Amino acid sequence: MEREARHSSGLCPAESSACPHDLEAVSKVLPSRRPGGDNPRMDTPTPVLTIDGPSGSGKGTISRIVAQRLGWHYLDSGALYRAVGVAAGWADLDLDDAGALVRCTFDTTIGFREGEAGDLRVLVNGHDATDELRTETAGAAASAIAAIPEVRAALKDRQRAFRQPPGLVADGRDMGTVIFPDAAHKVFLTASAEERAERRYKQLKDKGVSVTIDGLLREILARDARDASRAVAPLRPADDAVRIDTTGLGIDDVVARVLDVVSRPAG
Ligand code: DC
Repeated sequence: MEREARHSSGLCPAESSACPHDLEAVSKVLPSRRPGGDNPRMDTPTPVLTIDGPSGSGKGTISRIVAQRLGWHYLDSGALYRAVGVAAGWADLDLDDAGALVRCTFDTTIGFREGEAGDLRVLVNGHDATDELRTETAGAAASAIAAIPEVRAALKDRQRAFRQPPGLVADGRDMGTVIFPDAAHKVFLTASAEERAERRYKQLKDKGVSVTIDGLLREILARDARDASRAVAPLRPADDAVRIDTTGLGIDDVVARVLDVVSRPAG
């Protein structure tokens, strides 16, 4: 794994050898990290802001901006599931073969580095798979793979290793319920399925991909149902999460509301 596979933009303020954007480096450098991610230099745990919600709720965009504003690390947990989905595709694995997918999860290396344009690139088994990760095929494979309890368990510590001072913004489906249940701040973002399909349509159209809004809406509803109904870590807001409906709201409005949550006293 390339040692330069280390993120150096504002998303990763701690330029140490254990930059959490290099998962391999983290697991090698911090093998005995306590699961709670306590900061060894202080008694107070490193603060975490969890941002959960369904696909297209704006989690990724909002989380990245909020992490930048706070100067905290950023975890895109969906990228880990997508990376395993892509690796499974490369190996031509059957998405119904849970055993093979679990082995694939253990065997897949996932790294993050900054691209030339300052964007975040994802390396799967050493190959830049950033664009492939964002395809509907990778998303659907990730959703199927994410329903396997052993896969989720295998990715747990890799996600918790991102909890590094001065803080972490963690984006996903179960950040506030399973991975960081003790997070100081929790947000659950929603938006109507129609608006989410429209946002996705615009993104894909800008990239020259030909899709229909109806097709995207059907995919979004199917993925929501699968993510919310799976037996392990289903998509649901943590009891102590602040819910924000982003339907009709601009990015700046949502960012302001999330930062307002962080500014409130924890608990
Ligand atoms: O957020 P995303 O669309 O990149 O996630 C891809 C899939 O991974 C999604 O269908 C659900 C799954 N996922 C999950 O189960 N738990 C997470 N914390 C993040 C993503």
